[in-house]
Amino acid sequence: MKKGDIIELEIEKYAFEGRGIAKVPVGIIRSDLGKEEDPNQNYVVFVDGSYPGDKVKAELKKIKKSFAEAKAVKIISPSNFRIKVRCKYFGECGGCKQQDLDYAQQVKFKQQQVEDIFTKLGGFTDFVIEEIIPSEKVFFYRNKMEFSFSDKRWLTQKEIRSGVDIQKDFALGLHVPEVYDKVLDIDECFLQSELCNRILNFTKEFFKRKKITPYSTKTHSGFLRNLVIKTSHHTNDLMVNLVTLNDDENLMKSYSGELLRQIPEITTIINNINQKKSSIATGDYEKIIFGSGFIFDLIGNYKFRISANSFFQTNTLQAEKLYQTALDFAELNGKEIIYDLYSGAGTISIFVSGKSQEVYAFETVESAVNDAEENKKINNAVNVHFFSADLYKSFLPIVDTNNLPLPDVIILDPPRSGMHANTIDDVIKLKPKKIVYVSCNPATQVRDIKIFGNSGYKLIKIRPVDMFPHTYHIENVALLEAS
Ligand SMILES: C[S@@+](CC[C@H](N)C(=O)[O-])C[C@H]1O[C@@H](n2cnc3c(N)ncnc32)[C@H](O)[C@@H]1O
Repeated sequence: MKKGDIIELEIEKYAFEGRGIAKVPVGIIRSDLGKEEDPNQNYVVFVDGSYPGDKVKAELKKIKKSFAEAKAVKIISPSNFRIKVRCKYFGECGGCKQQDLDYAQQVKFKQQQVEDIFTKLGGFTDFVIEEIIPSEKVFFYRNKMEFSFSDKRWLTQKEIRSGVDIQKDFALGLHVPEVYDKVLDIDECFLQSELCNRILNFTKEFFKRKKITPYSTKTHSGFLRNLVIKTSHHTNDLMVNLVTLNDDENLMKSYSGELLRQIPEITTIINNINQKKSSIATGDYEKIIFGSGFIFDLIGNYKFRISANSFFQTNTLQAEKLYQTALDFAELNGKEIIYDLYSGAGTISIFVSGKSQEVYAFETVESAVNDAEENKKINNAVNVHFFSADLYKSFLPIVDTNNLPLPDVIILDPPRSGMHANTIDDVIKLKPKKIVYVSCNPATQVRDIKIFGNSGYKLIKIRPVDMFPHTYHIENVALLEAS
């Protein structure tokens, strides 16, 4: 067979990144078998948009020696795990790819996936896998949404079929998977709150009315780049952050004035000005248009200041469970020295501070370190100390220069790409008794833990925490002990 051909498949398993797995005799798909290859040998096909129990027609996308990739184009008979979706954009929006999968089953598959990553990919055998913690909320669970403006609107199948003439050079919404230059224009999303949908729709209408153009990735022109909305779970704080290519004070004044009249619940409005070509929603500088420029939220008994550009866990309720799991794994007695690497706005450091002697935290983003210092004051966490550190380079010079006591426990929470080899080396040299590794990407986590495993650390236990319902993403906490 060749790329583009359609094949009928029965899905048996759930694989990494939420794809279904089907197995067929290799001879059915590959026409280039060598003499030594058995055509009846099992061959794996990863099928996007399918779940175990589905029978599907799938289009072949890639044919490799040991596996193929395909995309389900028709469900012949559905899996019992499938449910009715809530959102009209399902299937085209990249936000909630698994909304049609029963939540109880999503969680079971995620648990299985983490287990497979640690046992099959990592080769770990003798360790405990604790039960996944499901998300308390499965809709409206996000405290941050980042929408993109585009001069290229993605038209849905329904819009194309309707024959209605739609303005194609203005969209505000979310990206379509694997389509980098087009944006799906949306008017509602069930991940944040109803109020956020109103902000989204007002913003779109306002700028369309004023004939302000969205940013074009092709020409590097156009004013509007992103709309980022941050909400607080425990307080009424609500931040609107408009990311633009240029600074236009009068336009921002007029936008914020009308926005506040329509939605007075907003507590702060920020304008980030981003002249870089890269499409990240962080500005070269930011201007506070209204309010303090911050919002506040609680994790457990601690209060945190959150600015437009610093990282804060996006599911506030689950963040508490995640941090509690890390704290439980560390089993602190109040006398330990803790290092918290990739500390963001200092949330984990402060969360564990009541059970530690001293906490030393390291983070590279300046606004996050500033927020962390503020959070220290708010929570009177006098035993926590923050350092600016780029953890792509060695941070041992900071430890030496400041004469820091050596750590008993190191907590790690790197970005999806995992840890840099230098930082892994540093951690090993510091010889903590325990390492608690929090990760939003178990694949890079297991890669790093294997290195610790070869340097005298034993994997004791892991516990997945679901922070992102309807997506295949999963957070995982691991405990390693010096052997
Ligand atoms: C997954 S977040 C964790 C933040 C924090 N522990 C929390 O729970 O909110 C990863 C953090 O790593 C930081 N980071 C990314 N690259 C870094 C680097 N090279 N050096 C230091 N910190 C980095 C990010 O800015 C971000 O704050």
